[in-house]
Amino acid sequence: MLAALRAPKPPKAAGEDGGTVAVRSAAPPRPPLLAAFEPPAKAFDLAGGRALVTGASGGIGKAIVAQLLAAGARVLAVDYGAEALKALKSEFPAVDTLALDLSRTEAAMAAVEAALEAGGPARYVVHCAGIAKFEPVLDTSPAEFDRQYGVNVKPAIFVTQIVAGDLVAKGLSGSVVHVSSQSSTLALEDHLVYSSSKAAVDHVARIQALEYGKHGIRVNTVNPTVVMTELAKKQWPADKLAAMKATIPLRKLAEPDDVANAVTFLLSDKAAMVSGTALPVDGGRSMGGHGL
Ligand SMILES: NC(=O)c1ccc[n+]([C@@H]2O[C@H](COP(=O)([O-])OP(=O)(O)OC[C@H]3O[C@@H](n4cnc5c(N)ncnc54)[C@H](O)[C@@H]3O)[C@@H](O)[C@H]2O)c1
Repeated sequence: MLAALRAPKPPKAAGEDGGTVAVRSAAPPRPPLLAAFEPPAKAFDLAGGRALVTGASGGIGKAIVAQLLAAGARVLAVDYGAEALKALKSEFPAVDTLALDLSRTEAAMAAVEAALEAGGPARYVVHCAGIAKFEPVLDTSPAEFDRQYGVNVKPAIFVTQIVAGDLVAKGLSGSVVHVSSQSSTLALEDHLVYSSSKAAVDHVARIQALEYGKHGIRVNTVNPTVVMTELAKKQWPADKLAAMKATIPLRKLAEPDDVANAVTFLLSDKAAMVSGTALPVDGGRSMGGHGL
């Protein structure tokens, strides 16, 4: 097998075996096996599966929608901005859209249930909607806690409960990815509410993986470093951003597609044995060390 993958040896000159040198052409021919190699059209195949994506019209959500469509999934794009969803639909006409406020938990659950009844089960769930406000521990408030947990954590539990409950009732397997954050395991200044909400999301995923596992439903999180979306632009002052970048071994921030790649992998059957994990998409930031 390995021998078949190796490049062929260069042609020998007449009499080479008798001790003469090999012929050297200016540009050696490309090895035929490599020349014939075509990368697969789809790295991940989600063909036919329906994917519910929250926060679908945001910076990271949109990249996820694009990749899931490219992988062959049907996408139900959930967000609360009707105008933004309209723009998403004009960019990706294949998506179905559902405008709702995820912080109104019971109403959101009812709306998702109705969407499943109308359009069929969703084998894939991505909870990407999220909000942040970075502020010192002395300044934060119960209202801010409720606001961020209401969007970041509660839908991870209760929207997933609706979708997974439907899959369990129908005997179907599935895969869920919650978009968490590198900050779920890092102590960063001014991040108390946001980071603890993402730590909660990580643990929600573990318990869901445990309990939904016996029904063939996998649950994981992706944990990105800073991605320059609207959310990050609002929350990261330039000096703190530069300091963060300096601690990332790859010395760069993440792109929305970096996150979407990880999500698509985890949703796909290529991750069939991966459940209950938190996958950093952070250029090595979370391993610590920082060169010291
Ligand atoms: N941008 C980053 O640096 C970064 C880093 C790590 C993790 N994340 C996480 O990635 C996810 C996506 O963030 P983003 O950077 O794309 O932000 P974004 O602000 O561009 O997108 C967030 C989306 O969530 C939607 N949303 C917010 N509240 C909602 C509600 N109540 N109901 C319905 N939809 C609602 C927004 O309309 C928006 O489309 C979030 O969960 C965020 O915490 C972001």
